[in-house]
Amino acid sequence: MHTSIKILAIESSCDETAAAVVIGGKIKSSVIASQAKIHAKFGGVVPEVAARSHVTAILPVIDLVLKQAKTKLSDIDYIAVTQGPGLATSLMVGIDTAKALSVALNIPIIPINHLEGHVYANFVKSQKLKVQSQKFPSIILIVSGGHTLLVLIKNHGDYKILGETLDDAAGEAFDKTAKMMGLGYPGGPMISKLAKQGNSQAFNFPRPLLSQDNLNFSFSGLKTSVLYSIQKLPTISYRLKSNLAASVQQAIVDTLIGKLEKAIIKFKPKTIMLGGGVAANGLLRERFAEVGKKYRIEYSIPSLEFCTDNAAMIGLAAFYRLKNKKAKLKQNFSIEPNLRLK
Ligand code: KG4
Ligand code: ZN
Repeated sequence: MHTSIKILAIESSCDETAAAVVIGGKIKSSVIASQAKIHAKFGGVVPEVAARSHVTAILPVIDLVLKQAKTKLSDIDYIAVTQGPGLATSLMVGIDTAKALSVALNIPIIPINHLEGHVYANFVKSQKLKVQSQKFPSIILIVSGGHTLLVLIKNHGDYKILGETLDDAAGEAFDKTAKMMGLGYPGGPMISKLAKQGNSQAFNFPRPLLSQDNLNFSFSGLKTSVLYSIQKLPTISYRLKSNLAASVQQAIVDTLIGKLEKAIIKFKPKTIMLGGGVAANGLLRERFAEVGKKYRIEYSIPSLEFCTDNAAMIGLAAFYRLKNKKAKLKQNFSIEPNLRLK
């Protein structure tokens, strides 16, 4: 029965308007309209601009994703949509569209937590991932522009947050330091590109909270430290920029990996997974794989296209909720900009 379930998934929590068709737990098509270029002018996501762009993009994106999946709207069984966390006005566009489709087609909606979506980016069947059959308990490190957390997954849909950021997210640390260096938005990809030519030992930035036993993160101090270093420099040459980028990246990745190792030692998971936009970072991917090998546990790193925001991961999360009888079917519900993973 599950092999034929057809889900249309919608994701609009931040600055990507995305839709996907997931049939029987496999991704048939996935379309992402990124607004990154629009927000680059402002050096970050402007909520009003994001909402307006979602409104214009959402129907063409859905049309295209259905066409690519060779599926008609009338064939769809469920709509999955991101309920939160995210920007209120962005979330609203996705949810209003889902509600309109749900009424028109007389099918239920499965509201999905965006962070659960990042978990299920690790379950993409069509990709050759290290973890073939996901084993629990698992620990996931979710690192994005808005979130940084370590989560113990005891089973499908059963989450315990082990630690999270007390201030800025890891992606924000990348984005803000890039902005200070005049690199533009989003900063993560630019920092990681520049870092390839830089010396990661050139600047000794703090590894916040790393020496503490808890599994929380804090990245706002790092940002201040980068700012002071930049202010002390008489000029900022390409070489210095590369060194700054490499040193910041090293500090962020060391902190993330250090806390991940603490979590592994304490909770002894069978598998580890990675998720969120920062999971596209080359150094983090390398170090994450090394940790898997060091502790002899299976590890999963989503392919690049499923690290940053997409709707395929939302559709997959909905599929596994249905399969495990944990789906909450709704037609009437509201956005939850601060939704927690539980
Ligand atoms: O998951 P995502 O697409 O959106 C949120 O849910 O926030 O993550 C976006 C974040 C941005 O902060 C961006 O700078 C970061 O992911 N990012 C990266 C890389 N690619 C994207 N950070 C470091 N290295 C990258 N290669
Ligand atoms: Zn995300």
